Amino acid sequence: MYSDQNTRVSVVIAAAGKGTRMGLNQNKQYVEVLGKPLLARTIQVFEDCTVIEEIIVVANESEVEYCKENIIDRYGFAKVRCVVSGGVTRQQSVFNGLKRVRPDCGILLIHDGARPFIDDESIRACIGAAAECGAAIAAVPVKDTVKRADEGGFVNETIDRSSLWSIQTPQAFRYQLIAEAHRRAEEEGFDGTDDAVLVERLGLKVRLVMSSYYNIKITTREDLAIAAAIAGMGLHRKS
Ligand code: CTP
Ligand code: MG
Repeated sequence: MYSDQNTRVSVVIAAAGKGTRMGLNQNKQYVEVLGKPLLARTIQVFEDCTVIEEIIVVANESEVEYCKENIIDRYGFAKVRCVVSGGVTRQQSVFNGLKRVRPDCGILLIHDGARPFIDDESIRACIGAAAECGAAIAAVPVKDTVKRADEGGFVNETIDRSSLWSIQTPQAFRYQLIAEAHRRAEEEGFDGTDDAVLVERLGLKVRLVMSSYYNIKITTREDLAIAAAIAGMGLHRKS
């Protein structure tokens, strides 16, 4: 269990997306599940995690004020240092947040606002592995058989599942490493779907950390029903 008192740990929470696949006329982060907005649920876990020093929230430019008022102030999140505007892509949003982290930050976590069921134990495991290896990401083994399709909609290949992992957040890094990886990606016009790939393309190793199947990303409508079940029964809280 990670509990180093000397390394400062910050988290950037990316919440500046549009939630297109959810098909609501509002950003999915602000949808309430059992009376509490998803984003408030997500921030709460980091607020309560004693190794986290500060939280940077990245919100859609048009929602910064709404976020401050209805999430940060309403729930009294004391560790939130600022709410910054996001960019067009997730990567740009994270980069905007990363630039606002305190200069003495040792380990930076990056987390999706739309993953409210992350647990304290997985957060600490990612921080510990990042302190050791430089980069570590929450993940779970793939459960379904995965096949590659050809253009005509037929199976082209069955991929060996035993080495496949579904990648989640948090993704944890030594701060200087991820800051450099983001700078390089921006300079070179590379856009990745997660943060670890920016480190991978520099030829560095990224450690997989076994997380939890409850740590889902709320993406489509049916995820809201699953979220209500997880929240209602407190399934994500490891004992
Ligand atoms: N995100 C962000 N800035 C963007 C795009 C995404 O901060 N420009 C955040 C989202 O708010 C979300 C996380 O990155 O918490 C993961 O992205 P995703 O699940 O794809 O959310 P959206 O982009 O909002 O959804 P969609 O792709 O369906 O539009
Ligand atoms: Mg998206």
